[in-house]
Amino acid sequence: MRIDIVTIFPAFFDVLDLSLIGKARARGLLDVNVHDLRAWTRDRHRTVDDTPYGGGAGMVMKPEPWGEALDEILTDETTLIVPSPAGEKFTQSVARELSARPHLAFACGRYEGIDQRVIDHYADRGRVRLVSLGDYVLNGGEVAAMAMIEATTRLIPGVIGNPGSLLEESHEEGLLEYPIYTKPPVWRGHEVPEILLSGNHGAIAQWRHEQSVARTREQRPDLL
Ligand code: ADE
Repeated sequence: MRIDIVTIFPAFFDVLDLSLIGKARARGLLDVNVHDLRAWTRDRHRTVDDTPYGGGAGMVMKPEPWGEALDEILTDETTLIVPSPAGEKFTQSVARELSARPHLAFACGRYEGIDQRVIDHYADRGRVRLVSLGDYVLNGGEVAAMAMIEATTRLIPGVIGNPGSLLEESHEEGLLEYPIYTKPPVWRGHEVPEILLSGNHGAIAQWRHEQSVARTREQRPDLL
């Protein structure tokens, strides 16, 4: 998969060299390119924002640098993702859909957001999705893009060493994951549930399912 990220803070994405994503890049499974939006400005001050038409607080990102950047980066195969608190909610199912795409481009807005005409312009030409991480407001799209990139790329075959670990985790089955334990069997007086030491795989699977249901009812009844 190819991923292009356009931002005025490229350093936010330095961490993409680390951990599983870094390894997937080194192995050629992921081709990640981070671009500074200011490279597509033409004035001495490298201006990317201006005051909003109609008035109001804050600044809006100007359409021209975005147009020049996206003209260069987008192809017929691209899904353009614009992180925004005004978008559809990012879920495991959106991550799964995106993980099957050959090319994702993230347009990370700052200030009050990007001039709407940029979104409308590229929506006319292909796939554009306004996507929100959740019902809260971040300072810009960078942190949201990072979360979406991590959730999406780990679903690409080969990125995670043990694909079995993808199957039983929270949200894959529509339930939250059951509690997990490792050695020692007793830690500060807290014991590992006896069933997990029994070696009875059928009973363990049943117990884990019950724990998942109970945890989901407790923490996220909206999922049931
Ligand atoms: N930018 C600012 N807030 C955001 C959010 N909740 N999700 C995605 N992008 C954002």
